[in-house]
Amino acid sequence: MSLLARESGIAGQMAAFGAEWLPAEPLSRHTSLGVGGPADIVRVRDLRRLPELLGEFERRGVQWRLLGGGTNLLVVDEGLNDVVLHLERAPDGLKFDGPRVEVPAAASLGTTVMECAKRSLGGMEGLVGVPGTVGGALHMNAGAYGTQIGDVVRAVTVYRGSLGRVELLRTEEVRFEYRHSSFAPNDILLSVSLELPERPYEAILERIKQCNQKRRASQPINEKSAGCIFKNPPGHSTGKMIDQLGLKGTRVGGAVISERHANFIVNRHGASAADIFRLMDLIRERVLKAYGLELEEEVIVWRY
Ligand code: EPU
Repeated sequence: MSLLARESGIAGQMAAFGAEWLPAEPLSRHTSLGVGGPADIVRVRDLRRLPELLGEFERRGVQWRLLGGGTNLLVVDEGLNDVVLHLERAPDGLKFDGPRVEVPAAASLGTTVMECAKRSLGGMEGLVGVPGTVGGALHMNAGAYGTQIGDVVRAVTVYRGSLGRVELLRTEEVRFEYRHSSFAPNDILLSVSLELPERPYEAILERIKQCNQKRRASQPINEKSAGCIFKNPPGHSTGKMIDQLGLKGTRVGGAVISERHANFIVNRHGASAADIFRLMDLIRERVLKAYGLELEEEVIVWRY
């Protein structure tokens, strides 16, 4: 348990806020990369009480950050002093209304794409193999095979960290860019309203199949990774550059540059976060030297 949490005595009061306190959870168990030291996780069961809970954190000086699906996240080996919030998946699921669907932010993105397909709602086919939650995907405007989730969003219910209240934002009030949105790090997405084009189920399935095949052929989907490690600089493919430098298969400790896609670092031999950082530095230096380009992290890094 973090020192602050122990001193403030807040951990024992979680039930009153519809939450549960899990002390010193290894974040390696909660991230797809399988690295990361311990942190106290607060599992939020009752979203309606979230403003109260965060108000209490604010009063007691408890710092927090939000864990989505943990699929695009690299956490340091030392762990974190901040409390890590984790929203529990709502049992009532997706609510359909014609071409619109209301999705809890903690829902799995892949499941959401498939549930929409069953109701002949398409437009998200490319996203089917993107791991993680709908909220996480939206926060960073995840995309693949020509689809970016921001394109199909109509409204978002969000707890505004800076204001301490829940707001309903229309899509016009949010800016979506390549792997970036205008949400602040302390904005907690609660639910997302999507508007999707109606298409025959078979056509949606066919497109999903094509995207899955492409992904399987070009990405190490069965290994521990956080997806692409670096963004593509405008007009360039980072994977192609790393590949052309002959770096596929390069290993630091337990971390390896995937032979299947050079912009993926895979945890193949019990890697530490430090191994991954060293491999990232090596890639950055080599790409800078050869191409004069500074790579920007695509993966979200929790350093302290
Ligand atoms: N390439 C290589 N060697 C490699 C990897 C790629 O030569 O090791 C070449 C490919 O042959 C292709 C080009 O580079 O000509 C682009 O590769 P790819 O189609 O795999 O796309 P990408 O730009 O590397 C982006 C996203 C992926 C997304 C795919 C498919 C980024 C950083 N990456 O990859 O997203 O799945 O397109 O749409 O934008 C992620 O966000 O984590 C992610 C994996």
